[in-house]
Amino acid sequence: MNIRVFRTPSDAGIYAASILERVVTSKERPVLGLATGGTVIPLYEAFVNLVRCGLDVSHVTTLNLDEYIGLAPDHPQSYRAFMNEHLFSKVGIPAESTHLPNGIASDLAAECERYNAVIRKNPIDIQILGIGVNGHIGFNEPSHTLITGTHVVNLSAETIKMNARFFQNEEEVPRQAITMGVQSILQAKQIILLAFGEHKAEIIREALKDGIRTDVPASILQLHKDVTVILDEQSASHLDL
Ligand code: F6R
Repeated sequence: MNIRVFRTPSDAGIYAASILERVVTSKERPVLGLATGGTVIPLYEAFVNLVRCGLDVSHVTTLNLDEYIGLAPDHPQSYRAFMNEHLFSKVGIPAESTHLPNGIASDLAAECERYNAVIRKNPIDIQILGIGVNGHIGFNEPSHTLITGTHVVNLSAETIKMNARFFQNEEEVPRQAITMGVQSILQAKQIILLAFGEHKAEIIREALKDGIRTDVPASILQLHKDVTVILDEQSASHLDL
């Protein structure tokens, strides 16, 4: 694993955006696997700047990791709304080339199959990941087993608590989500894992330096041959670098 430590999330975001740019300019039909959450905002800001300075993204396809169940795409806390706000509305990726699971599908099993087919049709060139304080990637929560494909997940109490900051209160946080599975994540040709802040320091150490454990889902990234971990000094503070 290639571990890079930056002074600030903003510096780290610029570096991550430069990696995305390389993928976008080197492929005929680049497919970007995207994430939501606080961590990826500096990356999207830097990427939007690159687009404003001339980077063409009209040929890009995007696939997001996950979506809350029960939130319509136009709900302000849906992940579709997050992506519109922080990226899609600011760059020229055609709307029909941006994919997220549908959190209000009436048949959730069929929706998972539909999303698996979208992933199969659009093999991911680079997957962006954040990490939960409990080690989740996407919404693959700590468990005895990790599920390979797209699936419905019950969010852990810890995740609900952490994500309450985006809602009025904890009660409003959906209890379930649809998430890409770990095999789909591992099938990306390249992976970038971002983490910032002291509160991520211990889980980053566990994910990167302990063995592979299903109760630390991000540790499965140790199996991938092209992972770049992009940290700030706080999140790197428990690593022996
Ligand atoms: C979001 C996602 C999650 C987040 C993780 C970190 O699409 O897949 O795994 O990356 O919960 O969230 P933040 O960045 O808000 O700390």
